[in-house]
Amino acid sequence: MTAALSLRGLGKDYGTRKAVGSLDLEVVRGECLGLLGPNGAGKTTTISMACGVVTPSRGTVAIGGIDLARDPHAAKAKLGLVPQELAIYDELSALQNLRYFGALYGLRGAALASKIDWALGAVGLSDRAVEPTKRYSGGMKRRLNLAAGLVHEPELLVLDEPTVGVDPQSRNHIFETVKALRAKGMTVVYTSHYMEEVEALCDRVAIMDGGAIVATGTIAELIAQHAGKGISVALAGKPDAIAAAMKAAAAHGTIDAADAVGRDGGLVGAVSSTLRIVPTAGLAPLLAAIEGAGATIARIESREANLETAFLKLTGKTLRDEAA
Ligand SMILES: Nc1ncnc2c1ncn2[C@@H]1O[C@H](COP(=O)(O)OP(=O)(O)O)[C@@H](O)[C@H]1O
Ligand SMILES: [Mg+2]
Repeated sequence: MTAALSLRGLGKDYGTRKAVGSLDLEVVRGECLGLLGPNGAGKTTTISMACGVVTPSRGTVAIGGIDLARDPHAAKAKLGLVPQELAIYDELSALQNLRYFGALYGLRGAALASKIDWALGAVGLSDRAVEPTKRYSGGMKRRLNLAAGLVHEPELLVLDEPTVGVDPQSRNHIFETVKALRAKGMTVVYTSHYMEEVEALCDRVAIMDGGAIVATGTIAELIAQHAGKGISVALAGKPDAIAAAMKAAAAHGTIDAADAVGRDGGLVGAVSSTLRIVPTAGLAPLLAAIEGAGATIARIESREANLETAFLKLTGKTLRDEAA
């Protein structure tokens, strides 16, 4: 079966900077692929090239088997893009916006009207359709942005961080809308900062960093391959001892998070601290190193490895840091 989206050797240079190196990715029909990566990883650039908004420096894009460079019109007809930046007209109503976007995709008359009704309903804006969108809240604008990418009911829906900076109610609404479309069989590429959204929505995940895909797989595969089983260790002792223990621990594992420790690794005057860590070579050397540094181990708990642990291992960054 032809892939819904196929990227081959795709890359983009801005001057001397490689925003995206040379990327291969295949999105299977009917799947929801999560694209996860820290800020600047190249997610938006990749998506923009895949949707024909940015011209690649190298490589090819095929949408539903149609080469984007050779037949852009037919390829783009299969695709709906929900961009990271709002792409709606403030002076126009939701209805007028959707008429405009629907017409871009060649919809006219009754077909256009019925698709608009459907899209407005899908994002929950039917009762606010005729007022100028400048009166909308940020979350409502985001929902209309989604409807604009949906109005021609594309085979492939590509969303670039659709819930960033959105109030919780609209965020939930957008998320549930995408889930429902996916349940109906639409192929979805979902870029997000929010690990829990990707975990709840996506069959498969591609993790990007530095303009490259560093891993792809199901969530279970990524966890099994890249996230060791982690533990949570509660430390007690003088700040100096805890700081030394943290340092010693870092030599024997990958630290996910540490309470009461600042960004520079300095303590904020606490006498106890919790460390979340994945041991590199087993528990014994790690615990010995912590105690050797003079801290007391008050408690140890094992915890389930998750996608975030895999992400951290692969990129050296936490998503939470980047989102802040
Ligand atoms: N129009 C542009 N001109 C120059 N550099 C750009 C442009 N767009 C993106 N970049 C750079 O390309 C890299 C990837 O950016 P982007 O694709 O937006 O990442 P992400 O969406 O993962 O945050 C970043 O270093 C960014 O600064
Ligand atoms: Mg982006």
